[in-house]
Amino acid sequence: MVKICCIGAGYVGGPTMAVIALKCPDMEVVVVDISEARIAGWNSERLPIYEPGLDDVVKQCRGRNLFFSTDVERYVGEADVVFVSVNTPTKTRGLGAGKAADLTYWESAARMIADVSRSDKIVVEKSTVPVKTAEAIEKILAHNSRGVRYQILSNPEFLAEGTAVRDLFAPDRVLIGGRETPEGQAAVKVLKDVYARWVPEDRIITTNLWSAELSKLAANAFLAQRISSVNAISALCEATGADVTEVAYSIGKDSRIGPRFLSASVGFGGSCFQKDILNLVYICECYGLPEVADYWRQVIGINDYQKSRFVNRVVSSMFNTVAGKKVAVLGFAFKKDTGDTRETPAIDVCRGLLGDKAVVSIYDPQVTEEQVRRDLAMNKFDWDHPRHLQPVGEPADQPVAVTSDAYEAARDAHAVCILTEWEEFRNLDYGRMYDIMQKPAFVFDGRNIVDPEKLRDIGFIVYAIGKPLDQWLRDMPAVA
Ligand code: NAD
Ligand code: UDX
Repeated sequence: MVKICCIGAGYVGGPTMAVIALKCPDMEVVVVDISEARIAGWNSERLPIYEPGLDDVVKQCRGRNLFFSTDVERYVGEADVVFVSVNTPTKTRGLGAGKAADLTYWESAARMIADVSRSDKIVVEKSTVPVKTAEAIEKILAHNSRGVRYQILSNPEFLAEGTAVRDLFAPDRVLIGGRETPEGQAAVKVLKDVYARWVPEDRIITTNLWSAELSKLAANAFLAQRISSVNAISALCEATGADVTEVAYSIGKDSRIGPRFLSASVGFGGSCFQKDILNLVYICECYGLPEVADYWRQVIGINDYQKSRFVNRVVSSMFNTVAGKKVAVLGFAFKKDTGDTRETPAIDVCRGLLGDKAVVSIYDPQVTEEQVRRDLAMNKFDWDHPRHLQPVGEPADQPVAVTSDAYEAARDAHAVCILTEWEEFRNLDYGRMYDIMQKPAFVFDGRNIVDPEKLRDIGFIVYAIGKPLDQWLRDMPAVA
């Protein structure tokens, strides 16, 4: 029986291991974490992350061959294969601060593996890490080995939140990188055999270690680059009267471009894109490739521009001031079908509005008031560093309310900003909303989920990303 242990019971470790346990009932899978709260959540009826379909998978195998524990050392010691899925946030201080990946959590996991191992192990990088991390991990393990032999594999995860279970059941590909030695290739085969239980063989790609590590950073950079490209075009659409949805559809029909990941938005968020591009930028700089670094940095530059452009549009349309005006924010998660708020554009938009002295009223179906307040009080990049999770500001001082439905958020508001594409926001009764708002009433759709013409018919002044502007907005140009 292959014994698997995964260090890190987060958005990746939890769902990934649950699916492995489901598909491989003859293997024991234990997910361990230093966070007692997280493990208690995984062992409870209310899982610590919201992910469609996940409850069902966990219920089927928890207690059978899937276990969650804080006894990190015991289960790592007993395992044949150890996945490491700890957080790899952006460094907040010291060399490379604001760009480089912080490998503190990774290194401490590696040192712990070396401390507790008495039998040979395959160590699998599941976290997204800088290229050549496997070499550093090999050194740590080799220098502390006491005769135990290790093989390091890179097996980056490509799941997206909100569709994690679906992505894990039917991945576009599984990528496994290993050393090109007989021992390395034998380790690759062990992991390949795990995935081959449910993933067709032609979707399991094996490469060398560095290609696997770099492919993950490159894939995220390419995906984010598509969003920044369409968002850059959205600004030009607004200036010219073109419609970004029509443009995206037209270019996406070219089979060389393809239709996905071309939805203009208020900006991309999530724990991965910005962090991984910054990491890529830093690596390029370290290898003396400033032109390549600048190219990728601009993907983030456009994303920041898109978020501030949105705030500017809100403020300029409302007579250049939102001071004392109530603005309803619908959606705080970084995308629909998740409660995750890491790097959500809503944080920047709310801060921008609060900076202009607006009174902000927020509704999201999956994000708690506590989370919203913590996010708005936190320093940039601190969110993924558990030890720094203390709010820095005085959240109570902020004119922010968190409501339990969209209409409550909109009551007496001057404007509604849609920042997450939750299905329920498509089906709201906007006539009812108009009736309870101040006039003129504005809708700023940061996700292009409402029909601007229908809302204009109700009486709203409507701004939608990259869509032709109505006369009001043309008369009140936003300063970029
Ligand atoms: P997360 O913060 O949700 O989970 C990481 C967990 O690791 C935390 O619960 C933390 O307590 C635990 N941890 C940290 N150090 C530990 C240690 N020494 N021992 C035991 N537990 C420890 O992070 P995540 O979103 O699951 O991401 C994990 C990695 O996967 C990151 O490198 C990320 O870039 C990558 N990734 C994330 C996604 C995603 O959608 N979230 C997708 C693909 C890849
Ligand atoms: C991403 C990658 O897609 C996934 O492969 C990787 O493993 C982790 O990072 P995730 O961040 O969970 O996944 O979600 P994703 O669907 O990629 O969306 C990221 C952000 O981009 C969200 O804020 C989303 O709203 C935004 N987005 C996405 C757009 O603005 N437009 C699009 O067309 C697609």
